[in-house]
Formats: sequence, C-alpha cells, structure tokens
Amino acid sequence: MPTAADPLFHTWFAALEKRHLANLTFPEVRRGLQALSTLYVERRRRLEAGAALEGAGKRAAFALFYSPLHFLLVRAVVRSLGAARPAPRLLVDLGCGTGAAGAAWAAAARGECRIRGVERSGWAIDEARWNYRALGVRGEAIRGDLLDETLPGRDSGILAAYAVNEIDDEGRPRLLDRLLAAADRGASGASPPSCRKRSACSTAPPDSTTAS
Ligand SMILES: C[S@@+](CC[C@H](N)C(=O)[O-])C[C@H]1O[C@@H](n2cnc3c(N)ncnc32)[C@H](O)[C@@H]1O
Repeated sequence: MPTAADPLFHTWFAALEKRHLANLTFPEVRRGLQALSTLYVERRRRLEAGAALEGAGKRAAFALFYSPLHFLLVRAVVRSLGAARPAPRLLVDLGCGTGAAGAAWAAAARGECRIRGVERSGWAIDEARWNYRALGVRGEAIRGDLLDETLPGRDSGILAAYAVNEIDDEGRPRLLDRLLAAADRGASGASPPSCRKRSACSTAPPDSTTAS
C-alpha cells in the first residue's frame, strides 16, 4: 500500500486526478468504472474488440482507478521477486495500456531500465507516454499487436500485466510458448495477477492456460 513516505506515487496520483477530472465529474468517472468492471466480469467477449477503452468515462476510470492499482501490484510483485536487482536493461511491456505496470517495474529499477510498451489502443499509447514522463521513467510506447512482438532474452524483462486474459484461445498458448522460450534465453518475466517463479527467472503463465 502507498504510504505518506511514497512521494512518487502520491505526486503521480495527484497529477492523474487533475488530468482526468478536468473534463469529467467524479460521478461520470464512477459510472465509467461500473461500465468497465461490467465489461471485464460479465461481457468479456467484447474485450477482444477493444471495448474496454471506448468512451471517455471508461478511459478515465481505467487511467485513474485501475492504472494506479496495477502500478502498486506490479511494484509489490517486482519487489517480492527481487526482479529490479539486477535491473533489466530492456523491459518489454506487452499490452502496456496506460504504461503504469511497466513504469512500476522501471521505477523500482531506478532508471536503469528502458521500457518498450506495445499496445493496440492509440489512446492508451498517449497515456503511457504521459505516465512515463510523470513517473520519470525512460520508455517508448508503440502501437502493435503483442502477439507479433519480438521477445528479448538476457538482461531483459517481459511484462504482460492484465493483458493475457484479453488474448483469444488460439493466441494464448502461442504467447505462453514464446514467453517460456524467452525465459530460457535469460529473460525475466511476470504476468500478474498470477505470478510464480521458474528457475533463475520468474515466469507466470496465465491461470487460464497453466495452473500456478
Ligand atoms: C487490462 S489492460 C492492462 C494494461 C496494463 N498492462 C496494465 O496493467 O495496466 C489490457 C491492455 O492490453 C491491450 N491489448 C489487448 N490485446 C492486445 C493485443 N493483441 N496487442 C496489443 N495490446 C493488446 C489492451 O488494449 C489494454 O490496453
């Protein structure tokens, strides 16, 4: 949990509130959050078509509610796995969304790592760029399909935070094979919310594909 002695998180969160409550009221964002949560829980089929990031309310809710939660969770995972020491030189963030999860790992690595965020939503890419700047991490966010991204090996990290569950049944096992191959080449990886250790590095197959 963030504490008063967590200025990076608090400063970032205050900036997020200012940015996303500039044009929307709090009740509008709350309604967006309800719609977003309904999509993720009850209407999952629409996720593959990108429905989660359609509309100002859902976008603001994603940026203001889920992104800080993902930042905190990934930071805790990285700390608990010791994945920031040594710091990966390159961190590939698959389905980076607003960039918060990758930025959490890079921030824990204290600037020694460069992020390459891959994302299909243009809105999310703009948010990721803004968040990288706001959180003081080095990174680029580019548009692409995470299934087509070349995965790195030694001295690198691979993150797929809350993104694997948006991949269809045909793509998930393919991605898992490629993640495991990257781990064999020396990459560290995490795919929260499910995380487990695998040999010297950590990999986390999605719950739906392989039990942890
Ligand atoms: C639930 S969000 C998580 C975002 C971010 N990783 C985080 O933890 O905050 C899932 C993201 O994956 C992206 N995504 C889903 N399928 C993708 C694909 N095939 N290629 C690139 N991005 C994808 C979505 O656009 C969305 O931004």
